[in-house]
Amino acid sequence: MSNIQHDVRTAYRADVSKRDLHSYSEPEVIRVQHLDLELRPLFEERILEGTATLQLVRNPEYPTAPLILDTGDLDIRRVETASREGSHKRTEYEIGPSDAILGAPLTIDLPRDVSHVRITYSTAPNASALQWLDPVQTAGKKYPFLFTQSQAIHARSWIPLQDTPSVRLTYSAHVQTPAGLLAVMSAENNPNAARDGSHSFRMSRPIPPYLIALAIGDLEFAPTGPRTGVFSERPLISSAAYEFADAEKMLEAAEQLYGPYLWDRFDILVLPPSFPYGGMENPGLIFVTPTLIAGDRSLVSLIAHELSHAWSGNLVTNATWRDFWLNEGFTTYIEHRIQEHLYGKRRAEIEEVLALQRLDEEMERLDPRDQVLHINLDGRDPECGVTQVPYVKGALFLKSLEKAFGRERFDSYLRKYFEHFAFQSVTTGEAIQYLKENLLSKHPDLTARIPVEEWVSAPGLPASAPRPVSPWLDKIKKEAQDWQQHKLALDELNTDQWGAQEWLYFLRSLSAELGFARMTELDETFHLTQSRNAELLQQWLLMAVRCQYTPAYPRLEDFLSSVGRRIFIKPLYEELLKTENGKKLAEAIYSRVRSQYHPISQTAIDKIVGSPKASS
Ligand code: BES
Ligand code: ZN
Repeated sequence: MSNIQHDVRTAYRADVSKRDLHSYSEPEVIRVQHLDLELRPLFEERILEGTATLQLVRNPEYPTAPLILDTGDLDIRRVETASREGSHKRTEYEIGPSDAILGAPLTIDLPRDVSHVRITYSTAPNASALQWLDPVQTAGKKYPFLFTQSQAIHARSWIPLQDTPSVRLTYSAHVQTPAGLLAVMSAENNPNAARDGSHSFRMSRPIPPYLIALAIGDLEFAPTGPRTGVFSERPLISSAAYEFADAEKMLEAAEQLYGPYLWDRFDILVLPPSFPYGGMENPGLIFVTPTLIAGDRSLVSLIAHELSHAWSGNLVTNATWRDFWLNEGFTTYIEHRIQEHLYGKRRAEIEEVLALQRLDEEMERLDPRDQVLHINLDGRDPECGVTQVPYVKGALFLKSLEKAFGRERFDSYLRKYFEHFAFQSVTTGEAIQYLKENLLSKHPDLTARIPVEEWVSAPGLPASAPRPVSPWLDKIKKEAQDWQQHKLALDELNTDQWGAQEWLYFLRSLSAELGFARMTELDETFHLTQSRNAELLQQWLLMAVRCQYTPAYPRLEDFLSSVGRRIFIKPLYEELLKTENGKKLAEAIYSRVRSQYHPISQTAIDKIVGSPKASS
């Protein structure tokens, strides 16, 4: 490439408001439109061998500029270009220096008339998007398992592409597995496909790269309705189908509120317990943690959450990770609306109060600069922006609009927003401009009450922010306090109608200095150490560490050895690290189980307990 050409591009780039700092790619120069993947997992070596064929469109303003892709520890074997006639030719390429967060740019020389490049590569054994499980780490114990987690910027560790949510692409894939295993993707899946080791997929709607997903294992399918069903390992399939039986009703409710669901099917894949998140909204097939299976359907708000992303996130996508609140804030708001629709106001209020409680707690510790919706992530990992702020503050912003303009008007505004930006990626600036033009400016009298700039760019919550209340939970808090002050005995508590959320709130309402004796009393009466509800158990174990309630420690060790869900285990390690004994225990447990955690959870816990190298 000539220097002059490069300078022109740099000038153009500086001007681009959608510029995504977390990608080396230059979609304004060349855009990848379609990806064709050939993949072969080598379970023994923990390597994916692949070829990625990218279909490109070049901006004629840059006739000779190279194509720049993102890669994360990929071993690039060969790069070829194809002209329209289809003949392949090797081409020059260069892999730049690797950045700890961004990985390395792959710069490919691209002759003018080229429409496709084909890259032959393999992944690193510790690729950040991949978790390879040995048979013992699965429920069935017989077959290995592989799954991907591409959000936020891990797609580049298993596919060389323009890894930015500001581009969208369709994809097709062919995956070769050992016979007997099923492969599924964020695409059209055929549960009855022959298990002959050859699996084909097609995603015909343009999606951002972070939504490309794959899982391979001894998977079974059970329908829960005409358009919904669950995939899981065999031993879990009937409990999973029971737990998520409301998926179809949720889908219908969401469509009533926000318009047609555009991803054909809404299936749920239950992953092994090391899955680092609660859920991931991969289109057509959400990925979820098995810790949702509580036996009583009490944790299904997470299904409503991932379903909501079908509109906010997958249909209308944050253009950069600074705009993450457009995905998660809208989604959290919609999640609460679906809850209300299906389970009534009381349940929705409970979820809202619990969410606000998490936000308040987190804000206390959070740098004011990170308490804003439009966050600055320059030079930082996008995961730094994954706090309660984009979720709960974002949802409260929308709720404040709903309150000011009325539900009917706001609902129709949201439907219009999704229709207008369908299959596009939007920045905060664009979303706010659209809001001003299509809602705010139409009702200047009501608009005066909404401090829009403050919501988007100031820390904390505006004074006018709605503060959800739940009279039902207020009563529980009072009971918790009364018990704590010895005004009430445990058998006088009204626990008959308590579900998981009520228990959670009860525990969270108790003071941190509860002490050993009172922990014992609670445990003997309610058997909390034995709880089957992971959400509740996590809260209880956190209190156990705080109060050094050692009878729960075997269960704690058990929990930390089996569950890899990051928001569950991170606070537990943090709490353990606060005392000398706890620190020793944390180090002992972590050194034993680290290799079983997902790379994403490893990175998080390394920062707390220390990575094996640092601590030795
Ligand atoms: N898209 C997120 C998960 C995510 C966020 C992965 C950022 C990687 C980077 C998903 O929709 C989500 O929000 N999951 C939550 C559950 C939700 C109910 C709050 C989780 O996993 O905890
Ligand atoms: Zn989400």
